Amino acid sequence: MNKKLAIIGGGNLGAAMAEGLINSGFILPEHLIVTKRDITTLKYLEEKGVLVSNSNIEAVNYADCILLAVKPFQLKEVLTEVKSYLNPERHSLISVVTGAWVKDIREVVGEALTVFRAMPNTAIAIQESMTCIHASGANEEQRNYVTALFDQLGRTVFIEEKLMDAATVLGACGTAFAMRYIRANIQGGIEIGFSAAVASLIAAQTVKGAAELLLTKNTHPEQEIDKVTTPKGCTIAGLNEMEHQGFSSSLIRGVVTSYKKIINDM
Ligand SMILES: NC(=O)c1ccc[n+]([C@@H]2O[C@H](COP(=O)([O-])OP(=O)(O)OC[C@H]3O[C@@H](n4cnc5c(N)ncnc54)[C@H](OP(=O)(O)O)[C@@H]3O)[C@@H](O)[C@H]2O)c1
Repeated sequence: MNKKLAIIGGGNLGAAMAEGLINSGFILPEHLIVTKRDITTLKYLEEKGVLVSNSNIEAVNYADCILLAVKPFQLKEVLTEVKSYLNPERHSLISVVTGAWVKDIREVVGEALTVFRAMPNTAIAIQESMTCIHASGANEEQRNYVTALFDQLGRTVFIEEKLMDAATVLGACGTAFAMRYIRANIQGGIEIGFSAAVASLIAAQTVKGAAELLLTKNTHPEQEIDKVTTPKGCTIAGLNEMEHQGFSSSLIRGVVTSYKKIINDM
């Protein structure tokens, strides 16, 4: 993995990815260049040996793989700026820009370049992202590189591009959905006697453990629920009351509403 990587747009996501990739040892700091217009906020990365620059052209000339992490409305301008410096024999592009389709990117940079679209989530800051990836025109080596890159930052799955909006809802909005579930548990926990701090710890670690059970054992949630629900017990009483109040239905409706909002607005 001696490829050089450029991250264009060292904001929240771009800088978090840079840190995660260095901390995991995936890339040497000197093989990574991060750009933004105001580079004063990237001093801490520079101190770790990362190249920082306000020149996207310098970044493209330096790197083999270009990761675009600017805001959606900034993407076209950046692509237009760098397109004549992109060489399909050398470069591949990864866009994490929400709502930017491969065809939008190709309209500017042409058909020859390999383009990946990736949808990570905010847990990328602690290398626990779920990242959905779509590849367009990639060979096996490029695909392996991008998989390895995002595997350093959590889990990855390749999907068809038509599922990218759905991936945004389930994977990225999903973080907010899970947070609201945890917050409600904290509120309940306080009402039954815990301090906010202890309730937060119990709620968050319990959800983390539940997720790890599924990921490690590859079981279905209902199998794990069966293990906790004794006949006439307190767990099934609580679960059934939640369902009477529309728990699963409200979550499904929330997911579908977010999805409709994305496809109607984009
Ligand atoms: N945050 C997430 O968890 C998340 C998850 C999935 C996808 N995304 C997508 O990732 C992208 C970035 O999100 P973010 O939250 O990291 O936004 P952000 O913090 O605003 O980062 C964007 C960065 O781009 C820089 N920038 C703007 N114009 C530039 C240019 N011409 N050349 C180089 N850099 C430029 C900005 O810095 P300067 O103003 O100093 O140039 C800024 O630091 C968005 O498209 C978002 O939809 C984010």
